[in-house]
Amino acid sequence: MSTGAKMPENKLKITPAKGRPMLQWVGKKPLDYVKGFPAQIVEVFDPTTRLSLRGEAEAISYNELKDNWHNLLFHGDNKDVLATLLELGFRGKIDLIYIDPPFKSGADYVRKVELRGLKNLGRIEEDEASILQQTMYFDIWNNDTYLQFMYERLMLLKELLNETGSIYVHIDHRVNSYIRLMLDEIFGAENFQREIIWRLGWVSGYKSTAKNWIRNHETILFYVKSKESFIFNKDYVPYPPDYERWGGRPKGKGLPIEDVWGVFPQEGVTSLQVVSYSSDLTDFRTQKPRGLLKRIIKASSNEDEIVLDCFIGSGTTAIAAQELNRRWIGCDINKGAIHLTSRELQKIISEQIKKKETNYHTFAIYKVNNYDLQLLRTEAIELAVQHIGIQRTRTDRFFDGTLGKNLVKIIDFNHPLTLLDLQLLKDELKKRPDEDRDITIVCLGKELAADSWIDEWNKKHPVNKIKIIELKTDKKYGSFLIHKPAEAKIKVLRSAQNDKLARIEIKNFISPTIVERLNIDNKLFKVKIPDFRSMIDTVLIDNNYDGKTFHIIYSDVPEKKDDLVKGEYEIEIQKSKIKVAVKIIDMLGEEVINVFEVS
Ligand SMILES: C[S@@+](CC[C@H](N)C(=O)[O-])C[C@H]1O[C@@H](n2cnc3c(N)ncnc32)[C@H](O)[C@@H]1O
Repeated sequence: MSTGAKMPENKLKITPAKGRPMLQWVGKKPLDYVKGFPAQIVEVFDPTTRLSLRGEAEAISYNELKDNWHNLLFHGDNKDVLATLLELGFRGKIDLIYIDPPFKSGADYVRKVELRGLKNLGRIEEDEASILQQTMYFDIWNNDTYLQFMYERLMLLKELLNETGSIYVHIDHRVNSYIRLMLDEIFGAENFQREIIWRLGWVSGYKSTAKNWIRNHETILFYVKSKESFIFNKDYVPYPPDYERWGGRPKGKGLPIEDVWGVFPQEGVTSLQVVSYSSDLTDFRTQKPRGLLKRIIKASSNEDEIVLDCFIGSGTTAIAAQELNRRWIGCDINKGAIHLTSRELQKIISEQIKKKETNYHTFAIYKVNNYDLQLLRTEAIELAVQHIGIQRTRTDRFFDGTLGKNLVKIIDFNHPLTLLDLQLLKDELKKRPDEDRDITIVCLGKELAADSWIDEWNKKHPVNKIKIIELKTDKKYGSFLIHKPAEAKIKVLRSAQNDKLARIEIKNFISPTIVERLNIDNKLFKVKIPDFRSMIDTVLIDNNYDGKTFHIIYSDVPEKKDDLVKGEYEIEIQKSKIKVAVKIIDMLGEEVINVFEVS
């Protein structure tokens, strides 16, 4: 399809949305084109070393990948990642998409991170003192920003989906009606297939006290690229034991699966739609059951096809796809989520290899743009406040505080200052006609258009003048972003008895951020960490490090929260001089790499 406009160089064209019905919001803009980014390989899990990615620094194209596949996990904003996939030749190559985006739920999701093994060590009661809080992602968004955010992602996803492909969008009552209209607009109302009701489970406690029908479901909207050619593997569940129809007990495959799923109380009546829960729950709050994803993947894709989830969270979609022998691509903006996903997959693939169950042993983690700061966002905002000297006003629901005589608005560090942010500021000031203070906006970076908007605004307004502190470039204030990294003391030696083995011993590990966070959370007493390994989540080892990409040939990922990493390892190495790299990931997802030359 052509819009007639000439495409600027290097830009990847996006086909316009299909058309009516349409939803409007402030700041709605079509996504005419996007640009890809280089995707750097940061880690490879390649335990059988069947596929060699050694020497590769960047993601390779779909054409190079298709006959020599490894699965892909991207750390970055999915808008950038999806654009990068288009650039790599994935247009029309994805068979199934499932997404479970943030819901505008008004909650900020906090992943509770516990130190390992404190219970067993018996020195500290396992209580709140051991819990670090790491914000997984903020979910409090303005409606318009949210809608534009989803619009752009859905447009990109449609480009990636192939003609036989399907997309499932998991949402709740807050955004249901908006997203349905948006999907109609992008994919075409004729390609809507089903609205699946996902019943959440047993209701008890606070939730059941509402003076109302008890809310207990989410919605999964199922659309296809083309209603003529989509894949669907119809599935059945066995007839319940007492099931009869006017023909007595029917023969056949069983009852076809309907569009209401979940866990139901009346065993035998509606239990046919039950998706089994497995005991795979991590501490990720919005984790979906693996069984749910398996049902979707089995129905809407075949083995070896490509499944994509660009809000991967704790990795459920990738894990279900891996277990069902599909190829997969995952993405998340949050480093903690990438670690969690990677950690779980390493366990599963190692088991699959033992049982010879999979064709796909290898996955690589790529970084698209740099989102490391995301991890430390709560900390960064707190530090920004302290460093700049902002007086926090927690009672104001829009402004974050004051600086001298100015009101301060801190823009979330996960995006640059945009025109939408400025529009919101303008709307807010309109509601406060008596407000005569000037405004300081603190942001990490800014969109180009922001400057001229502000110039224009300042010309027109004798009061409420806007000033920006852009932390990325600010000489005075930018320096606080330098963060005290975690450090490890490790000893690596070739074994005296066997020159094909190296002995690795972690002697000490300290994460200033963890210690600081524990002390902030527990102002009354200083927390003592009895064993440095409590701070370590995972240890990864590469026995032939090339200086760029980390190839995981050994991973120590303790099964239970109360188990500590071993801390001492013996691994095979080449006889010649070689570089061994040890990566330690701490309980906040921060990582340290130490490299050793072993002669
Ligand atoms: C509701 S959770 C997904 C949970 C997942 N289905 C599971 O079972 O664990 C949404 C995820 O989207 C991620 N996310 C939010 N905005 C994103 C963005 N712009 N790009 C990539 N990931 C994003 C969040 O970090 C979070 O992990």
